[in-house]
Amino acid sequence: MRVLVVGGGGREHALCWAIAASPLLTRLWCAPGNPGIAELAECVDIKATDIPAIIGFAREQSIDLVVAGPEAPLTLGLADACAEAGIACFGPSAAAARLEGSKAFFKEVALAAGAPTAEHAVFTDAEAARAHIRARGAPIVVKADGLAAGKGVVVAQSIEEANDAVAAMMEARLHGAAGTRVVIEECLEGEEVSFFALCDGTTAIPFGAAQDHKRAFDGDAGPNTGGMGAYSPPPCWTPALEAEVMARCIRPVLAEMARRGAPFRGVLFAGLMLTGAGPKLLEFNVRFGDPECQALMLRLKSDLLPALLAATQGELAHFDLRWEALSSILVVLAARGYPEAPQGDGEIGGLEAAAQVPDVTIFHAGTARREDGALVAAGGRVLGVGAVGLTLQAARDAAYAAIARVDWPGGFCRRDIGARALKG
Ligand code: AMP
Ligand code: GLY
Repeated sequence: MRVLVVGGGGREHALCWAIAASPLLTRLWCAPGNPGIAELAECVDIKATDIPAIIGFAREQSIDLVVAGPEAPLTLGLADACAEAGIACFGPSAAAARLEGSKAFFKEVALAAGAPTAEHAVFTDAEAARAHIRARGAPIVVKADGLAAGKGVVVAQSIEEANDAVAAMMEARLHGAAGTRVVIEECLEGEEVSFFALCDGTTAIPFGAAQDHKRAFDGDAGPNTGGMGAYSPPPCWTPALEAEVMARCIRPVLAEMARRGAPFRGVLFAGLMLTGAGPKLLEFNVRFGDPECQALMLRLKSDLLPALLAATQGELAHFDLRWEALSSILVVLAARGYPEAPQGDGEIGGLEAAAQVPDVTIFHAGTARREDGALVAAGGRVLGVGAVGLTLQAARDAAYAAIARVDWPGGFCRRDIGARALKG
């Protein structure tokens, strides 16, 4: 099979890594890829959001399967354009990608499907939003409706903070058009889990759970990021919980999307809060999480490629994925100043030595090759150091031993990835 992966971050490196191991693969491309991916695939200089160029390339190269990494090309209609061109695409149509693209749409679908989620109200008027906040009190959560690069959510501890968020989103338009509508919802408490299910439009199968660390610094301090590290499986994640989430959150939503004429094909990423009253949906994403994907791929025993293909062909029923009886961890190395102002330069050394630590796999995210061939940082999240172990502690020790060998003064990482799970 000839496969094109779209994207160029750590998640896409992990997807390429898993796909490259498949005996079904004949040739692998990645657009645009990165220097780590270039060791596994042929990188093509096409932006992930340049859909006409992706389709043109896929036609030219007789690609059998396009695998979408990030959400942006999906919300722009990558899967629809592939369907028109007769090319299989792992990832939902633009209509189904609205589950991530609009928080109000997600709420509407979750409610119609009877899936448990936080109580909410939608506002297009700032005054009405403030009145609702006054009536409900704090803590309360304010969300910009559209895509805001993961920055459109404020968990407000006071009424004042919530009102400030309303003013910033709806009046100052901090996130542009994404703030035309805001969703205000009940603040949920509990353990947060990222859960993934492969979907073929009618059937969903579990693809495992992971826990992410969203804050920039140790002890969950500092600004929100795309994710500073992840581990899988979370100790709190039991087979019974997985069955409950499949039955109450995933399958009803899949059925509701099909009923609306927007069947979901691809990976459904449920952001869950495990509350005292059971698991509740915080959000859906229509793609793998980054860095959760890296942690999951490290544990996957089955061939990924036929599973992705089955999702595009409506053939997931009776598909059985197997997992290594291991724990995995992924620690992100970010450029100093991330997320606000990453100082994205500086040479990175020591990766060969780091990769020699047993059980360690290194994924590239924001790296680039300088003209002289040196590897340099070129982004916020730059590298992901992954490891597996018989226990989470063992995986964690391996990952941090590898990090100690990385020579990059311009970078930093959290030192406490997985620590909460080990304490518990
Ligand atoms: P979202 O983009 O909707 O996942 O929100 C980003 C983060 O905000 C989540 O990962 C949670 O940590 C937090 N969050 C979102 N909604 C709620 C809620 N209803 N209650 C508590 N925390 C929330
Ligand atoms: N790590 C969370 C995300 O990919 O959205």
